[in-house]
Amino acid sequence: MLPYNITDQEFDIFKRLIYQHTGIHLSQQKKNLLVARLSNRLKALNLKTFIAYYNYLLHHPDRASEWVKMIDNITTSTTEFFRERQHFVFLQNKVLPYFLKKRGNKRLRIWSAGCSTGEEPYTIAIILSEFFKDREGWDIKILATDVNSRSLSLAKAGIYKATSVKPVPSLYLKKYFQKESQGDVNIFKVKDTLKQMVAFKRLNLIRDHFTLSSVWDIIFCRNVTIYFHPDIKARVIDQFYKLLQNDGFLFMGHAEPLFFVSRKFYPVGKSVYQKVLRPK
Ligand SMILES: C[S@@+](CC[C@H](N)C(=O)[O-])C[C@H]1O[C@@H](n2cnc3c(N)ncnc32)[C@H](O)[C@@H]1O
Repeated sequence: MLPYNITDQEFDIFKRLIYQHTGIHLSQQKKNLLVARLSNRLKALNLKTFIAYYNYLLHHPDRASEWVKMIDNITTSTTEFFRERQHFVFLQNKVLPYFLKKRGNKRLRIWSAGCSTGEEPYTIAIILSEFFKDREGWDIKILATDVNSRSLSLAKAGIYKATSVKPVPSLYLKKYFQKESQGDVNIFKVKDTLKQMVAFKRLNLIRDHFTLSSVWDIIFCRNVTIYFHPDIKARVIDQFYKLLQNDGFLFMGHAEPLFFVSRKFYPVGKSVYQKVLRPK
């Protein structure tokens, strides 16, 4: 039994609001999900109805911080280290050797767009560290962005439970994480060598991407646009196209191929695309 009711009209209002601010499309079946995710906000603010919460978001003097909390609650943060492992094999065996040949300036910029709690950018950082460990002079930076401020705080802290680091190969776990015991549980802290490679920033993909310049060699945007309305997805992909270098790569989630969205990119691997050229 859900603690609050939402009328069809209230659901439509929130559906539109969330779509306009995040691009996330809520189908009619997501009504209960919306109630489950926002009930704690109504409770915290001592509000009885969703329309009262809507008015709070629109008119209350503290509405700016409430927007952040609302978005934190509404977004889906599921992620894991080495998720869709094939992508990291492809990165290591195809994409990085390609850039090794092509980037005479030894400069590489990677963007993890929709990084959630950090598992994706730290996995990328591990692969890059391993690939470039005996190759001197490379200037490598990873930008990791998300709209969810709570996820970003966890990502920046870089502290994970034993269950979270299970997919990390034991060699890398020893090398890149500091194991510590907290009471009777173990926690794993990302070492500074990895942390230094990643900069975290709050960024809403449907509003703020224009603040970035077109320098990206690789963009990861996996399992993010599946929640977007198709029109918004097409717009975001178009922005990625503009922000990538001419031979840049785009990694999408395995369940979100670009086929129906954009024909500008060449498919070069499973849900991996290149802007212009096919890798040799
Ligand atoms: C399911 S997680 C995917 C995390 C990671 N990329 C992966 O594949 O494991 C989706 C992430 O997209 C973020 N997100 C959703 N809408 C967004 C938007 N408009 N701008 C930026 N990030 C967004 C969510 O906050 C969430 O952290």
